[in-house]
Amino acid sequence: MHAGAYETALLAARHLTAHFGPAPAVAVVLGSGLGDFADGLADAVSAGYADIPGFPPVGVEGHAGKLVVGRIGDTPVAALAGRAHLYEGHEPDAVVRAVRALRLWGVKALMLTNAAGGIRDGMRPGDLMTITDHINLSGYNPLRGPNDARLGPRFPDMSTAYDPRFREILRELGAAQGVRLHEGVYVGLAGPSYETPAEIRMLRVLGGDAVGMSTVVEVIAGRHCGLRMAGISCVTNLAAGLGAGELSHDEVKETALQARAAFVGLLAAALPRMAAEVAA
Ligand code: HPA
Repeated sequence: MHAGAYETALLAARHLTAHFGPAPAVAVVLGSGLGDFADGLADAVSAGYADIPGFPPVGVEGHAGKLVVGRIGDTPVAALAGRAHLYEGHEPDAVVRAVRALRLWGVKALMLTNAAGGIRDGMRPGDLMTITDHINLSGYNPLRGPNDARLGPRFPDMSTAYDPRFREILRELGAAQGVRLHEGVYVGLAGPSYETPAEIRMLRVLGGDAVGMSTVVEVIAGRHCGLRMAGISCVTNLAAGLGAGELSHDEVKETALQARAAFVGLLAAALPRMAAEVAA
């Protein structure tokens, strides 16, 4: 871990307390196409990342870069529209800074959402997938370097990185809402080029069900500092070589928007359940 990682995240956390007051129990990081979920929160108050000390600027199209606090029903929720990615050139420490800041602020449960390419047979563009586990092929670990025990242990467990109880809640809600919701293993690569068909055949053999360019280092940092984590992928396309034609970011964004209603419905139900779970 970067020297000063704790202090930098603490500075951000103090700003969040000053700006928003006490932390909600639950937060969500919004992936491609989901950013405006944040604007749908009741009594929303927001802060641009540029105004939160230590939050890296985020440059991807369709990501606004703001933290919004509001309510779903009676449940306070923090929503992060926009995230820093490794492929932008950010150090892993910068990519996970918001996760650590949320924890130091007082958040207890964090939902990460993303867009991903579907590898497993039977997946269709627009389907959702509860992440049950991941394979970190990003080439980075955000904990590399001296450990700061104020954040977490040197050798954190990853056997239940994606909280089993949260996975159960998502399964239940997905069935109740009639959502096409798979469960599977997310492979995280650094990007930004999409994979080759040969790489996708390899990832399938390795046990990957979906592939994307985010989430894995955030989950490692989140578990390290004691957050209970959940993840949902929107399968925006069949992975390279599995569908017809080439992959494009436009296709990814368009399918993410088409899946938005189902995704938002699932999130709106899941976040209050996750908050209740960590309060219990
Ligand atoms: N590969 C990697 N990242 C992605 C994909 C993909 O096919 N689709 C959306 N994000």
